[in-house]
Amino acid sequence: MCRRVFVTGATSGIGKEIAISFAQYGDNLLLCARREEKLAELKAELEADYDVRVDTFTLDVRNREEVETKVPQAIKAFGGVDILVNNAGLAQGLDDFQDSSIDDAVTMIDTNVKGLIYVARKVLPFMMEQNSGHIINMGSTAGIYAYAKGAVYCATKAAVKTLSDGIRIDTIATDIKVTTIQPGIVETPFSEVRFHGDAQRAASVYAGIDAIQPEDVADIVLYVSNQPKRVQISDVTIMANQQATGFMVHKK
Ligand SMILES: NC(=O)c1ccc[n+]([C@@H]2O[C@H](COP(=O)([O-])OP(=O)(O)OC[C@H]3O[C@@H](n4cnc5c(N)ncnc54)[C@H](OP(=O)(O)O)[C@@H]3O)[C@@H](O)[C@H]2O)c1
Repeated sequence: MCRRVFVTGATSGIGKEIAISFAQYGDNLLLCARREEKLAELKAELEADYDVRVDTFTLDVRNREEVETKVPQAIKAFGGVDILVNNAGLAQGLDDFQDSSIDDAVTMIDTNVKGLIYVARKVLPFMMEQNSGHIINMGSTAGIYAYAKGAVYCATKAAVKTLSDGIRIDTIATDIKVTTIQPGIVETPFSEVRFHGDAQRAASVYAGIDAIQPEDVADIVLYVSNQPKRVQISDVTIMANQQATGFMVHKK
């Protein structure tokens, strides 16, 4: 059966591959992010390649008013929602906490924590109304294992895990499922964003390691979404083969 899947942060990396894999599976998609032209490109690609409906809208998840207005409007126009993939997120900076930028910290908290709350809070009433749905939140191994120079990013991803657990408790009497996906090192533009556009420094993160690819994470998200009604996968942790904790990797 064709499902209605809402993915945030669908213009790049993991979110984009998640959108592609749901489209391949035959699900309709509601996609958002800030970059309009990237959303338009992806919509055209998915509609040309797969027989699915793709609605898109620009959204900055940090903007509470924008989320509160646009998300319900978009869901109503789309005809409802069965799966929310709360994927939009980022890291900014890699510095000892005592030297780190407060602006970077605020951006990460506003995006990864507050943005996720704003979106989930606006999507849940639709799921409560139908007594079903699946919220899939993008955490990270960084939320399990703090690593050097990443205190605030790690804290935001620990918050994602705890928020998922809390929402699962509060919706226990419904058929709504909540899952946290916790990937390790995934090769995407994530590091370029973290290093404020320094492509060379970003490339060094993935040098010498066979990093997880975004399509690997997308496969797992699809698997998680395809379980019988009685099965709720609460958490999935995915590491690269040569990765042991959040930032402990062996490089060749
Ligand atoms: N790559 C990794 O190693 C890794 C590991 C574990 C977890 N994660 C998590 O996976 C998620 C996706 O990251 P990625 O690796 O795929 O990075 P990415 O390629 O940089 O993608 C990030 C996505 O989030 C969107 N986004 C960022 N800020 C936003 C905002 N304020 N409002 C709306 N959308 C926003 C971006 O779209 P626009 O710029 O168009 O808005 C983009 O589509 C993040 O939550 C990240 O923390 C990544």
